[in-house]
Amino acid sequence: MASEAGPISKVLIVVAMQTEAMPLVSKFKLVEAPAHESTFPKGAPWVRYHGNYKDLHIDLVLPGKDAVFGVDSVGTVSAALVTSFSIQTLKPDLIINAGTAGGFKAKGASIGDVFLASDVAFHDRRIPIPVFDMYGTGARKTFAAPNILKELNLKVGKLSTGDSLDMSPHDEEVILSNDATIKDMEGASVAYVADMFSTPAIFVKAVTDIVDGEKPTSEVFLQNLIVVTAALDLAVTRVVEFISGKSISDL
Ligand code: ADE
Repeated sequence: MASEAGPISKVLIVVAMQTEAMPLVSKFKLVEAPAHESTFPKGAPWVRYHGNYKDLHIDLVLPGKDAVFGVDSVGTVSAALVTSFSIQTLKPDLIINAGTAGGFKAKGASIGDVFLASDVAFHDRRIPIPVFDMYGTGARKTFAAPNILKELNLKVGKLSTGDSLDMSPHDEEVILSNDATIKDMEGASVAYVADMFSTPAIFVKAVTDIVDGEKPTSEVFLQNLIVVTAALDLAVTRVVEFISGKSISDL
């Protein structure tokens, strides 16, 4: 691991969906780590692409396809597992959790916006017992990257994470109290693991759908996924370009 002062050399990009990942894989000319070279344990569906870009070594990991249903293993459990194992084996200097999110127009989010999350919390871990309640919510500040924000002109907002794409009235209440501008299905779990292993992590999230809008989330999400992924990938590319040659304390 690079010291705070040394240049960043290893970046781990954690992405939940293949559609979100593939443009980054091509952009950075990453190659899939073959199974015989894989450090991932047998049975794990996780996928790793890697390569060098400028002076950085990039590992991009995905939770992979669900063994039973064949869909991307979205959500907090899979994201935490692949992040944990990747940190321990790949020893990144910095994690970028890149993905799509729902946005709240009442908080200033529009479709296609790219946010850097200032804070993360969960909205579906309700434990109404003193202190366990706060553990459940798991609110934490993310690693502050003021220079990335300034240089790349990203929006900034709080991110709320849960294991559902839709939003129940209960979730809505907690999301409001989390003061969130965006809502995803992985961020807070990646942050939990990154903090556990003292690895700085940033959260780059592009808005595919408006949660407090008229249209049903799942429909709009699927309609916008490809187009918004292009905005996400552009933002992540610019973040990686910015990081190249810098140290953690320069971010
Ligand atoms: N990812 C994209 N849109 C989302 C939403 N509305 N909720 C959770 N995750 C999302």
